[in-house]
Amino acid sequence: MKDSPRIIVALDHPTGDEAFALVKALGDAPYAVKVGKELFTREGPSIVRTLVAHGRPVFLDLKFHDIPNTVAAACRAAADLGVWMINVHASGGPAMLRAARAALDTCAHKPLLIGVTVLTSLDASELSAIGIEDSPAQQVLRLTRLARECGLDGVVCSPQEIAGVKNECGAGFLTVTPGIRPAEASLDDQQRVATPASAVRAGGDFLVIGRPITRAVDPRAALTSILTEIEADACHG
Ligand code: C5P
Repeated sequence: MKDSPRIIVALDHPTGDEAFALVKALGDAPYAVKVGKELFTREGPSIVRTLVAHGRPVFLDLKFHDIPNTVAAACRAAADLGVWMINVHASGGPAMLRAARAALDTCAHKPLLIGVTVLTSLDASELSAIGIEDSPAQQVLRLTRLARECGLDGVVCSPQEIAGVKNECGAGFLTVTPGIRPAEASLDDQQRVATPASAVRAGGDFLVIGRPITRAVDPRAALTSILTEIEADACHG
């Protein structure tokens, strides 16, 4: 855990060639990569194997949500690819979450198991439309507690929710946070953002960063500058 990189670069590319070109351009700095539904659906497990063979920790962001037996089998298949982190929807319920945990516990290589709570694209009216009358914040905490009780290693949450999650589950329960923007970067379509240093100061463990790195004129310099900002802040903190 201690050696795990803090920054997870979101490889939101349509082809494996483009994703791998970025990884080569980023050089040797410590970072993990995130392979999501677009890249995985286009390239399949071969891009994951390529990245793992290249020595990069891979977060396979496929957000499994199905009956317990199917999710358990999918988790085992992901573990067999040698990935570092996987995720499942916490709203899949306790039986599904426990099945995912139990499946990974039988694997020789055990990726971190992270729960997705409430997608940041869902606001109160969207939740109400699917029958949930609690606020998004209440629902995030309910699903966080459930994820913890079912033995998951952490949750995906927005930077604003890190403190609440840590308060509820303790510092050792991991947070994975998108919505990270260096002070000078464009917000793109993200609304609730934090700078890399402030997310780490709030106790954030892993920061998912896409466009501020992948669309930078010099991606390697952008990554280095983020790592330097975090380090400098920790020294002054
Ligand atoms: O480019 P950007 O830094 O906004 O990329 C963030 C990454 O995190 C994307 O891959 C996006 O799909 C993902 N993500 C997110 N918000 C969530 C969950 C995942 O931005 N709530």
